[in-house]
Amino acid sequence: FLALLKKKKLPLSIRVLLEAAIRKCDGFYTKEEDVQNILDWQQQQNTAEVPFPPARVLLQDFTGIPAMVDLAAMRDAVAKHGVDPGLISPMCPTDLIVDHSLQIDFSKCAIQNAPNPGGGDVQNQSQAHPRSTPPRPLPRGGSQCGSQRSSCSKSGCSDPPTSPGHPPASVQQIENTPLLCPFHLQPVSEPETALKNQEMELIRNKERLQFFKWCSKAFKNVNVIPPDVGAVHQVNLEYLSRVVQVNDEFIYPDSVVGTDSHTTMINGLGILGWGVGGIESEAVMLGQPVSLTLPRVVGCKLVGSVNPLTTSIDIVLGITKHLRQAGIAGKFVEFFGPGVSQLSTPDRTTIANMCPEYNATVSFFPVDHVTLKHFKKTNFTQEKLELLESYMKAVKLFRSYEDPSEDPHYSEVIEINLSSIMPHVSGPKRPQDRVAVNSMKEDFRRCLDEKVGFKGFHISKEKQGTQVPFLHCGQEYQLAHGSVVIAAVISCTNNCNPSVMLTAGLLAKKAVEAGLVVKPYIRTSLAPGSGMVTHYLNTSGVLPYLSQLGFEVIGYGCATCVGNTAPLPDAVVDAIKHGDLVACGVLSGNRHFEGRLCDCVRANYLASPPLVVAYAIAGTVDIDFEKEPLGVTSDGKEVYLRDVWPSREEVLQTEEDTVISSIFRDRTGRMEKGNSFWNNLDCPDCVVFPWDHKSTYIRSPSFFNKLSKDPQPPQSIENAHALLFLGDKVTTDHISPAGSIARVSAAAKYLLSKRLTPREFNSYGARRGNDAVMTRGTFASIKLQNRFIGKPSPKTLHIPSGQTLDVFEAAERYQRDGIPLIILAGKGYGSGNSRDWVAKGPYLLGVRAIIAESFEKLHKTQLVGMGIMPLQFLPGESADSLELCGKERFTITLPDDMSLRQQLTVKTSQGKTFCVTALFESESDLVFYRHGGLLRYVARTML
Ligand SMILES: *[C@@H]1O[C@H](CO)[C@@H](O)[C@H](O)[C@H]1NC(C)=O
Ligand SMILES: *[C@@H]1O[C@H](CO)[C@@H](O)[C@H](O)[C@H]1NC(C)=O
Ligand SMILES: *[C@@H]1O[C@H](CO)[C@@H](O)[C@H](O)[C@H]1NC(C)=O
Ligand SMILES: *[C@@H]1O[C@H](CO)[C@@H](O)[C@H](O)[C@H]1NC(C)=O
Repeated sequence: FLALLKKKKLPLSIRVLLEAAIRKCDGFYTKEEDVQNILDWQQQQNTAEVPFPPARVLLQDFTGIPAMVDLAAMRDAVAKHGVDPGLISPMCPTDLIVDHSLQIDFSKCAIQNAPNPGGGDVQNQSQAHPRSTPPRPLPRGGSQCGSQRSSCSKSGCSDPPTSPGHPPASVQQIENTPLLCPFHLQPVSEPETALKNQEMELIRNKERLQFFKWCSKAFKNVNVIPPDVGAVHQVNLEYLSRVVQVNDEFIYPDSVVGTDSHTTMINGLGILGWGVGGIESEAVMLGQPVSLTLPRVVGCKLVGSVNPLTTSIDIVLGITKHLRQAGIAGKFVEFFGPGVSQLSTPDRTTIANMCPEYNATVSFFPVDHVTLKHFKKTNFTQEKLELLESYMKAVKLFRSYEDPSEDPHYSEVIEINLSSIMPHVSGPKRPQDRVAVNSMKEDFRRCLDEKVGFKGFHISKEKQGTQVPFLHCGQEYQLAHGSVVIAAVISCTNNCNPSVMLTAGLLAKKAVEAGLVVKPYIRTSLAPGSGMVTHYLNTSGVLPYLSQLGFEVIGYGCATCVGNTAPLPDAVVDAIKHGDLVACGVLSGNRHFEGRLCDCVRANYLASPPLVVAYAIAGTVDIDFEKEPLGVTSDGKEVYLRDVWPSREEVLQTEEDTVISSIFRDRTGRMEKGNSFWNNLDCPDCVVFPWDHKSTYIRSPSFFNKLSKDPQPPQSIENAHALLFLGDKVTTDHISPAGSIARVSAAAKYLLSKRLTPREFNSYGARRGNDAVMTRGTFASIKLQNRFIGKPSPKTLHIPSGQTLDVFEAAERYQRDGIPLIILAGKGYGSGNSRDWVAKGPYLLGVRAIIAESFEKLHKTQLVGMGIMPLQFLPGESADSLELCGKERFTITLPDDMSLRQQLTVKTSQGKTFCVTALFESESDLVFYRHGGLLRYVARTML
């Protein structure tokens, strides 16, 4: 087998799929044919549909609720048949992280600002359903820093503008996108009020937390990470990453699907994984693999060496930009080539997390010696590390880039020369005006010449050489055009990658040691993103050097930006005015505006933290670092930037030594210490969950009602009514709206009947654990275009009575009268975010089949998984072409033995007859349908 693998030269990400398929080959979900298709990846890519059974599932509290509620209900169902309910547990190991998504829903404002408000709504646009949540919106200048009035009032500072003014260009958009920090440190201590709030939230969510605690005890294969350990992606990256999994039978590669939109980050550690919707993750827990079109794999070859002044952030953004231009939507990206080893694990995970920027499914970095080195700094024992290395080498999942003969064959190769990634600054007036550092001097001179505009100050030639002497603390200094008067190291966004702040610190250290100083009139400041940034700057020993150069910690967080710096000395302001000088501010935020720092400072540049330190030492931006010294020591020695710039190796080593290990210690410490509220929370100690009938959040769903031991043969649908008559492009948002519960909705009536006030309704998202609310919320979108109604409305026509009712109420009447239901729809039914209830809701409304012109692929799978028949009109036919009015009754006759993509005949009460195709495309589809869906199928296998 290994010989075959060697001959085939499969990409390593494909080998992970292959291993899983072989290990899980059961002839039902995964067949020999699937294994063969993956082996024949060269021929089958982009064609074959293959199963992927991941090693584990990652859930957040928000998305975990419905899945766990279903499993708990399944226990009740099998117990009724005298079967040991303890047999029911997820089949795939599941980590459920109680981060704060439960709490987010209590504050409207927080919902808007939350990175993933849908809590697991994942776009299903491409083959493998990667995450969709767009990167967080850029913080607005106004809210981020501008809430603080600038304090250099003496010189007449204007208020910072409250809007960015110019929408950034597309490439710029990436460059200004705050990177989500893979290895982001939490503040060491939280203020008391924050703790109080947290406690309040925990009490409010007590019921759901108790349920989770019960889950962690009652189910095998469920690992609940208590509140306050960290956000889901952090815990995944820093605590749950196993790289290799070990169970009683096998050692195998770690892989994961998660409902967190940042799941793709994990590919930076050589763990294949991506985001899926809530229903898909539940299906995986129940043993069903994810289905994906065997992807094309783009090899991204990194060559060349990183430019000295280039920071990790430059590299991440540079690579992202290349990939974006390459057009790799829906493909896997796999990195290889001699340059890969220059990227640290924080760099890799940041790149992997950016893949929605270029629409790749994953950006995979195979395990190599950098990965091993990373895990040495974590909680892995020596034994575990040795196992990891020898296993990955044995199964050819370990990469050594020195030997190109080991390079896999890729679908296509993109080469990125790392030396082509140049460090830039932006300015002097707008963030989108980028200037390569090596042409800074030239660019600044040109700006002096140009007429006043974004890139011009229009200083006449004869005045460009103006020098204005002034006294500061008894010493004479001179200011000229380009003089730096403000230098602020801010790590609002740059703390994503600790190496960037460490580079600034190491540069400060070397500069001090070389005898350089920062001129005392320059307003220098340091605003680390959090206490942990200070902590690692301190433990790595660079903090004293930064402060020696004047970069003293002035406060935390972005709110402390430059507005808090002390006013410029009067002598400096006078000198600038006197010489009409273009003075400069340099800062490492991600936005700036003209006049933002101070209106006497006309040129403002954004630069990386180490470059801010460099320009502060130089005292001017009118400098060519290559040709001119950064400074001259007191004994007259010229020191160049290259003499004091720390090497990348040195930076990365410091990062591994001081940051990675302290993050792991912190995370593990939080895990062990736990949370006193959680630790003291009592929870039922029993095998079946004691449902609280008063609860409006958690309720046993009725999926298992009347579960018989054996499935009944498929029953024809006789004299069904159409519940809805829909047009094209009905999205999951129409089917199962998220967001708040309207006061005049079926769900609101239910909640009022439970004595809740509208204030307590909360959102549909928060009530996913209550099937009564979610069923009432199905099709409750005010944007629903139902042809029975004629205008957007969450209502429908109850045909027998001619009344217009809420969709739920109409369905309830039909159910009471024993009338089966279907839905008529147009093209693209079920596109959009994959939501938990898009198939469960219609099922509980009593919908047996949906006849549409076409279905979104993933949604079709979800319908089958709930036992609803997806039926497609024949090509070229539609409700209109067949002249259906929707009010007729429909009879669909099923044969005893259904086959794949079988044509069925539909007869209407008006005497019309037409054919539709039943979109069952695999044996397992047919089995699920016969059993009334995946949930009932799994319950029956236990019976
Ligand atoms: C990368 O680019 C640099 C500078 O442009 C060049 O010297 C080097 O040869 C290139 N490396 C490769 C492998 O192409
Ligand atoms: C990514 O996909 C979205 C939606 O499918 C599309 O609008 C966008 O243009 C794509 N971007 C790239 C870089 O392919
Ligand atoms: C490290 O991991 C092991 C399990 O691998 C765990 O038992 C232990 O508590 C962890 N803690 C520390 C501080 O290493
Ligand atoms: C830095 O570390 C030293 C010694 O561990 C400690 O005394 C000092 O308070 C720390 N400084 C900061 C700012 O954290």
